[in-house]
Amino acid sequence: MSELHQEFLPQAYTNTVESGSVAWKSPSNIALVKYWGKHGQQLPKNTSISFTLDHCATSTRLAFDPKSRPGFDITVLLDGKPQADFVPKIEKFFSIAGPYLPFLEDYSFTLHTSNSFPHSSGIASSASGMSALALCLLEIESQLLETPLSDTDFKKKASFLARLGSGSAARSIDGGLVVWGAHEEIPGSSDLFAIPYPDMVHEVFRDFCDTVLLVDTGEKVVSSTVGHGLMHDHPFASQRFDQAQSNMLAIKPILATGDLDAFIALVESEALSLHAMMLTSSPYFILMKPATLAIINKIWSFRKETGIPACFTLDAGANVHLLYPAKHKEAVRELIESQLKPHCKEGAYIHDQVGAGAVRL
Ligand code: PMV
Repeated sequence: MSELHQEFLPQAYTNTVESGSVAWKSPSNIALVKYWGKHGQQLPKNTSISFTLDHCATSTRLAFDPKSRPGFDITVLLDGKPQADFVPKIEKFFSIAGPYLPFLEDYSFTLHTSNSFPHSSGIASSASGMSALALCLLEIESQLLETPLSDTDFKKKASFLARLGSGSAARSIDGGLVVWGAHEEIPGSSDLFAIPYPDMVHEVFRDFCDTVLLVDTGEKVVSSTVGHGLMHDHPFASQRFDQAQSNMLAIKPILATGDLDAFIALVESEALSLHAMMLTSSPYFILMKPATLAIINKIWSFRKETGIPACFTLDAGANVHLLYPAKHKEAVRELIESQLKPHCKEGAYIHDQVGAGAVRL
């Protein structure tokens, strides 16, 4: 059993609540400096920073009722339909989070969840899904406590809990730019939970756009869990973790000054370094598809021809996130319609932008 983090253990429960229902909507996020490789109980090997998204989100309503059987009692409905294959992952999360939420064995839980993006879109729903669930559970806990947590401590514990479900979910509570993982040059940063990026941010990044180009909507050949695991004996792991720590330092003046050329160079290099780790894992694997590369090349040509500072990033999949300043929306959307859409599966893409973080429903 890993050590317990005392600061996240709750006060004794004083209130009796028989049943009820709570609901939260939580966004997805896209990392600029990537998290890939972990240790212990979902602790990152390097610091990461992401934009919180706005439209790509999960809404979860969690109903809790008196329970009649021992152990955890969880039912999951996705878009109103029972989803038994989600239950083992949530049971695993409950058993890890159990010491921090001691009421988990006291109720029967029904989780009604839905995503704003198609379930099969290949967009990671674990970040938005796990953070929405963590927020719902913490809201139930607030009802049991004599003195509920302050807003700041509530978000901190929500991020801590979300992390136990899925690492990148820690970054889906707050809005704007969010940092997870301790970095000596980022005050308040921690491996245990994410924090809003505390330094100066140029206004260009406040409403940055992200269009998610959906290249592959099927099941991934290698899951994130397996991919993270392959970083353990990876020949370039320590260089990669050092690179990420340096990039976190390098991104600070970029975010402060709005230097888009430097932003593009750092963000695209991070995306390709992440995939380079996959290409050089043992066993090696490739998550990009021919259409991923076709889109990247078209983004590069567009940037060269127009001078518009649009760039790409990738998460652990084949989809391309096209990042650009809001003032170039029209020109970039013209590029998407005329040149990128034909590479997307069934022509599908999702326009998104930096969002304000999770909201109670
Ligand atoms: O949270 P996980 O275990 O699904 O890992 C996701 C990792 C990346 O999306 C590839 C990068 C990141 O920092 O979000």
